[in-house]
Amino acid sequence: METEKEHRTKSVIHARHLTRIYKMGDSEVVGIDDVNLDIAPGELVVLKGDSGSGKSTLLSLIAGLDRPTHGHLTVADHDLTDTTSSGLTYFRRAVVGMVFQSFNLMPTLSVLENACLPGLLAGNPPDRIKSKAMELLDWLGLSARMNHLPAQLSGGEMQRTAIARALINDPEIILADEPTGNLDSRNGRIVVELFAQLNHKWNRTVMIATHSNIADSAATVTVCLKDGKIDGQPCDI
Ligand SMILES: Nc1ncnc2c1ncn2[C@@H]1O[C@H](COP(=O)(O)OP(=O)(O)OP(=O)(O)O)[C@@H](O)[C@H]1O
Ligand SMILES: [Mg+2]
Repeated sequence: METEKEHRTKSVIHARHLTRIYKMGDSEVVGIDDVNLDIAPGELVVLKGDSGSGKSTLLSLIAGLDRPTHGHLTVADHDLTDTTSSGLTYFRRAVVGMVFQSFNLMPTLSVLENACLPGLLAGNPPDRIKSKAMELLDWLGLSARMNHLPAQLSGGEMQRTAIARALINDPEIILADEPTGNLDSRNGRIVVELFAQLNHKWNRTVMIATHSNIADSAATVTVCLKDGKIDGQPCDI
């Protein structure tokens, strides 16, 4: 019989009884409820569920942006239920890369500067970060856009800039919350294909939350949430 510790070491994401309850005055709203999850390294996980089912809540916990109310969470050997805030800052900068629906680019910085920012904040040498960002932007088809501001880009270009930024510190895990939600279907498919390449060519663990079917064919694992709980397979959305 495998011990709990061995199981945890093999999983890049290991959650037990993970619960996040939001307190709103006297009432409580359940974000996620008693979630158990084990994801092996190198999977492309598509996290599905209706609006309000808890996808963003779960991703925020895995990204170290939020803390659980109860339960246990280990991500890439970091115990996120027992980490200091400086430990969490390091984790968010170096271990996970996060991509959001609304891109969240800095409007006054160029594409290249946006891509470099987390690398510089992590204290890496500027020359090395700049050449890494240029390589990533080249892979993402943005070489001709490096000196443009976000407002001068299309939605697809903004999201690809956000992907470069998420990858600059070589994270083990890439988390994306509705990354195609503000894109047309063609650009949405391009973004999903980039995540699929990151997964199968670069062997990164990727988790994409979406309520659409756009990433279904790229999934190696599908996790369905319903009312904050992991629902049985198959996903009925
Ligand atoms: N900061 C918050 N304060 C209070 N309640 C919250 C907060 N964030 C989320 N919730 C609640 O937690 C539940 C899960 O929300 P969550 O945003 O995780 O769902 P979701 O699956 O990402 O939905 P969507 O597809 O609309 O993005 C919902 O009932 C939501 O209202
Ligand atoms: Mg959401």
